[in-house]
Amino acid sequence: MKATTNPEDTISLEERFQLATYKKMPVVVERGEGVWIYASNGDRYLDLYGGHAVAGTGHCHPQVVKAIREQTEKILFYSNLVYSEARARAAEKLVSIAPAKLSKAFFCNSGTEANENAMRMARMATSRENVISFSGGFHGRTADAISATFLGKYREIGKPNVPGHLQAEFGDIDSVRALVNESVAAIMLEPIQSMAGVKMSDPSFYRALRELCDERGIVLIYDEVQTGVGRTGDWFFAGSDAGDGVVPDIITMAKALGSGIPVGACLVTEEIALHIKENDLGTTFGGGMIAMSAVTATLEAIENDRMLENVQAVEPYLRNRLKEVEQVVSVRGRGFLLGLEFVGKAKSIHEALLEQKIITGTSSDSKVLRLLPPLCLNTEEVDLFVKNLMRVLG
Ligand SMILES: Cc1ncc(COP(=O)(O)O)c(C=O)c1O
Repeated sequence: MKATTNPEDTISLEERFQLATYKKMPVVVERGEGVWIYASNGDRYLDLYGGHAVAGTGHCHPQVVKAIREQTEKILFYSNLVYSEARARAAEKLVSIAPAKLSKAFFCNSGTEANENAMRMARMATSRENVISFSGGFHGRTADAISATFLGKYREIGKPNVPGHLQAEFGDIDSVRALVNESVAAIMLEPIQSMAGVKMSDPSFYRALRELCDERGIVLIYDEVQTGVGRTGDWFFAGSDAGDGVVPDIITMAKALGSGIPVGACLVTEEIALHIKENDLGTTFGGGMIAMSAVTATLEAIENDRMLENVQAVEPYLRNRLKEVEQVVSVRGRGFLLGLEFVGKAKSIHEALLEQKIITGTSSDSKVLRLLPPLCLNTEEVDLFVKNLMRVLG
């Protein structure tokens, strides 16, 4: 059967030929622009989910599209065995926006891979094996990362798990202290636990983790796959006021980093970098030219369009407007990583909003609706969301 533009045919082809591992929305996406996506039946949707937090710069940001297009006309790919201007510029740019002590980049292709490499580097740097991570954290689906994921059924899916993973309670420093001994290489956390329902801790928790790691020679890893690249209104949660200015030894990121081109990265301190030698880490596609041109263009677009400032201005506006919605019990998170807690189930609200052509996300907390919109969302679009939210809540 030939490819077709008929939406029903597209749905039935995917259903027939793709493994049924995703619960899909009944939307056949055709194109995107800024915070909007357009379906092939002509419908337009306000995208407050950003394709899983990926569309940080918005869909098809012209500067990102132009950079990728120009790169495709030069060379699509060559591995890390040669130097490349695209890679050099991306690494320089990424390091320039990170907290000063994170001065070296390693490029890979996804969030889970960034976390695998971060844990590997921590083990190499400390000559220890164990990793402490937290209840409610999500770190990816490859073997080591899923073994560090103490959320729902994920570890079960990943069995047999990689040994040496220990679970502490998010926000409870005593639970971490109780697990620390001479075999702990790393403490890894999502500084804001997104999938768990957008849970943040008190700033003192991040500070206490930093002090504990310093005392005991443990590597502190922030998984910023969701919080990174501007989502919280800062470039990273690392170094921000929300985290008491704490800077970890490694940050991992992916999702919004390439505006939709798959790319992940670890940023590490000079001290960690000293332990990593030739051939210790590697991946064929990491640092490829298309991905690298997307990274540089993404970071430059966020700067040029003053998107961090936009997030900082629109977040309080959105929070204020949500005060008018009685059924919203609390608003968690920071910047454009927000969890709206309702009295009842968020799933039915998500579905009702979808009927109003607004895409939101759910979470593993059944009462929490997640918003992860592009960083260019404006106050008019917020008004449209709030109006429709009120409508679906009656
Ligand atoms: C916090 C966090 N870490 C890691 C991952 C895994 O990233 P990827 O799906 O790119 O492997 C995700 C994905 O949702 C995530 O939210």
